[in-house]
Amino acid sequence: MRTESITERLDTAVATLERHGQAHLTDGLESVGTSDLESFVTQVESIDFAEIATLTSVGASAGSIPEDLQPAPVIPRHPEGEDGFRAAGEAMIRRGEIAAFTVAGGQGTRLGWNGPKGTFPSTPITGKPLFRVFAEQLNAIDERYEIETPWYLMTSPLNDAATRAFFKDNNHFGRNPASLLLFPQGVMPAVDDHGRILLEAPGVIAVSPDGHGGSLRALARSGALDHAASRGVRHLSYFQVDNPTVHAIDPLFIGLHATHPASSGEMSSKMVPKIAAGEKVGVFCSVAGRTQVIEYSDLPTEHANATTEDGSLRFIAGSIAIHVLAVDFIGRVTSEKSETSMPFHHARKKVPFWNPENRETVVPTEPNGTKFEMFVFDALEFVKKGLVYETDRVEEFAPIKNADGGDSAESSGRLQTERAARWMESAGLKIARNDDGTVNGRIEITSATALAAADLAGQLCPEFSPGGDLVF
Ligand code: UD1
Repeated sequence: MRTESITERLDTAVATLERHGQAHLTDGLESVGTSDLESFVTQVESIDFAEIATLTSVGASAGSIPEDLQPAPVIPRHPEGEDGFRAAGEAMIRRGEIAAFTVAGGQGTRLGWNGPKGTFPSTPITGKPLFRVFAEQLNAIDERYEIETPWYLMTSPLNDAATRAFFKDNNHFGRNPASLLLFPQGVMPAVDDHGRILLEAPGVIAVSPDGHGGSLRALARSGALDHAASRGVRHLSYFQVDNPTVHAIDPLFIGLHATHPASSGEMSSKMVPKIAAGEKVGVFCSVAGRTQVIEYSDLPTEHANATTEDGSLRFIAGSIAIHVLAVDFIGRVTSEKSETSMPFHHARKKVPFWNPENRETVVPTEPNGTKFEMFVFDALEFVKKGLVYETDRVEEFAPIKNADGGDSAESSGRLQTERAARWMESAGLKIARNDDGTVNGRIEITSATALAAADLAGQLCPEFSPGGDLVF
């Protein structure tokens, strides 16, 4: 418990700011009320000024491209021994060794949705919110394996309260609140071109979420890692909030991660072949035998466009941001004593700032500042053998990122329908299709009905030939 008064804390904060050349952050502070003053002091106390100084020193940005970049080796779909790996994964799930972990701290700016992205209506007919889609999958997993899967959900300070309210209003979608841990990720201050931290308004430092890479330290700081360890959870199944077709807990992938010789059991990843050189997905590469993801914005064009003898893309393994991470591994990467630390990526952004002369907050029209973000896939640097497994795009990559066009609710809905149609066809049903091969109508299969194509076997009557909209 704090024993210093707010005046003492303020004095210490001001001295800290002066020592680090950031005294301008006290501009206009005389006009700030007591509670805002306290939150300002708390903001100052939470900033690691030495870290900021290192980040703003010349050449500190992550994202430089190693010279010996090679495509990462990939485990193909239907690997040899598939059934054995699946059985190993199922045994781990049944023993309660797996938890789900969703990163939902992003601001969803591109989608233009006024609320946490997980509240966005995502399924093609009933418009289920993303959070409900994941919760229903976990409910079905729990029932099948007779377990209670812990679910860790990272929010950000900007959407934490709204996310909690949404879960409460929906009765946690049937999840036990004791196994559902929501926690906000950390934030980082934004700086100007001279390394000065930007002030948004008197007493308000301009900060933004520290990227999904911040999820690892947020897991540790929030107590979620301890919660996992106390439940006997050994691995987290990690996925982004934007993908309604993710298999939240995938037995085959978990089995590959934990028992395949190409994996050290620390962190594994799923990929799909890129459909075009310019597709906006990170790419799995290999550097001196270690797996890495190079983000699309960092991959040089000559690498992105490079082809093999048969004309396919050389760097073809697109990241769909699905991983399994060992709890021990996360503990090691986030430990205070650890020599491993995740790098920060620099992003030039328009950051609103306070102009003390006119006494107003200016919203710039051009980028004026730098924000710092960590990327979770940078943890691969510390992994001895990072397995990459190929999956099928229709089966589990239908992200909703944009308001329209590619990666929108509409394109995702089409993929969800296509997946449902394929599951039904594999169970022997005839699906009405248009001349161009697309499904005639929309189909939605709930997780309670099936978690994968195999679950439909024997459930459907072959004479039944759906057309139009179908939910089941
Ligand atoms: C991301 C990946 C990209 C991958 C693609 C697959 C990065 C940098 N790139 O791209 O390699 O191919 O997904 O769909 O991640 N998030 C937080 N906190 C943050 C920032 C983001 O929780 O501070 C979450 C978001 O809620 C979202 C996810 O991370 O679930 C992705 O973030 P976003 O910035 O949208 O990445 P993409 O550009 O879509």
